[in-house]
Amino acid sequence: MSLEDYRYLVDFDTKNIETHYHDVIIVGSGIAGVYTALETPDTYRILILTKETIEISNTVLAQGGIAVSLDKGDSPELHFKDTIYAGAGLCNEESVWTLVTEAAENIRKVCQYGVKFDMNGPEELAFGREAAHSKSRIIHVGDSTGKEVLDKLIEEVRKRKNIEIRERTFVIDFLTDDDEIKGVIAYSEDESKLKIFLSHAVVCATGGYGQLYGRTTNPEVATGDGASAAYRAGAELMDLEFIQFHPTVLYHPKNKSFLISEAVRGEGGILRNKNNERFMQNYHEMGELAPRDVVSRAIYNEMKKTNSECVFLDITFKDKDYLKKRFPNIYKTCLEYGIDISKDYIPVAPAEHYCMGGIKTDVYGRTNIKGLYACGEAACTGIHGANRLASNSLLEGLVFGHKIAIEIHVFLKDKKGKKPEYQVKYSTERVKKDIDKESMKAHIKSIMDTYVGIVRNKEGLEEASRQIKAYRDMLRNMRNTTIIDWELQNIALLAELVINSALQREESRGAHYRSDFSQPNDAVWKRNIIVSKKMR
Ligand code: SIN
Repeated sequence: MSLEDYRYLVDFDTKNIETHYHDVIIVGSGIAGVYTALETPDTYRILILTKETIEISNTVLAQGGIAVSLDKGDSPELHFKDTIYAGAGLCNEESVWTLVTEAAENIRKVCQYGVKFDMNGPEELAFGREAAHSKSRIIHVGDSTGKEVLDKLIEEVRKRKNIEIRERTFVIDFLTDDDEIKGVIAYSEDESKLKIFLSHAVVCATGGYGQLYGRTTNPEVATGDGASAAYRAGAELMDLEFIQFHPTVLYHPKNKSFLISEAVRGEGGILRNKNNERFMQNYHEMGELAPRDVVSRAIYNEMKKTNSECVFLDITFKDKDYLKKRFPNIYKTCLEYGIDISKDYIPVAPAEHYCMGGIKTDVYGRTNIKGLYACGEAACTGIHGANRLASNSLLEGLVFGHKIAIEIHVFLKDKKGKKPEYQVKYSTERVKKDIDKESMKAHIKSIMDTYVGIVRNKEGLEEASRQIKAYRDMLRNMRNTTIIDWELQNIALLAELVINSALQREESRGAHYRSDFSQPNDAVWKRNIIVSKKMR
């Protein structure tokens, strides 16, 4: 890692910038950010900052559902066991236990906000099945669970007088002083100017960094801004090498990012290769419902073997009306591309879907920077280990959002009424650069797709590292003035950190598969790779 990185992406003098004060600042408006805001006592003045409109986040694209062990014959212990198994030995057991034992109470709260999960009868939740779960425990709202849940939470947030929302406000950096958070510096798109928001408590809930890849199910906003800003502030990041590739993403000339939920395989969906052969039983005893990393690698193999760019998902044996009701969004979207899922196989291929790594936190969402919390995909609580169990992510946003709210209340007790002090003039020597930023961004994505995908090796990772380093050198002293500049800096930084972590992990574990170290190596590598750096 180069020594010359600047601490902040922009120069500023606090004396000349409009400044606002809040008790709590939440960056990001997915399920983690919005639920944390709702759970924090309403005696605090809370500000939600979001780089787009509040409705745009990765949460709204989450189809499958939320895992919770509420069915007869299920238990938190079984949910714990399944999560640990999927995580391939790298989960933090304390965090997983918190997740599974506090799931039900948070689901109850979500229901009180008006979310209506699908039911089998007046008192009976409908539980779906997804990969690597030993029980049917996925509660859902059709195949648009994330959107349905978030819509209701946002409705509630809008009613709260103590919560302010500022949209189109891009948080560039976290402001710190002596490892203590002071607030954020942000760019208001509507007013075309920098602003400072000061607070003793900042929650980073900015989602993941799926946009490091060309083929991803993530929305364009997922550029890892939170993790990058946290890193510049000196926060520890963990498990960055573990990128989850969803096995079944639509592969159609006009759409290569639409998710075909794992719940389709949970309903019996069969994977077939180009020669119409079912293959998953050759790879894992759980067949199509093996852990996601196993299914993605199996598909990757079959595509190579048959020289094909996709495989097929067959759910044609299910009744058309049933499919329309259970998967309305998938049914309708596929039909728009001429695929009637009740008659046609769905062409699918793996694509980037979820980042297991992120800002390292404890079970209360605390980072190593006092007052800085992280929640949801931006965080690494250690619950996912090397491979996330399906439908644990919306749940993570809820359970840890709740924990953070409790902790913030304790943390702020002796700070009530005291405004944070922060007066800084930060200036560097940066120059205007004539760089084709869109092309650079596209090339970084193609480097990540090519060398840091489902299968990696030293040679490819070193090549990726060499190319990304060259870009980073070019960007280092660039004067950054637009959102594209800041996003590009964030993407390039995270690409470098992901590649370094992937190079360091000389073994295969969960979603990180090295063809040159094809086995897990507990003796040497059963530990989390943590990176952090303090810049001044
Ligand atoms: C899916 O519906 O397959 C995605 C759910 C998840 O990522 O947990």
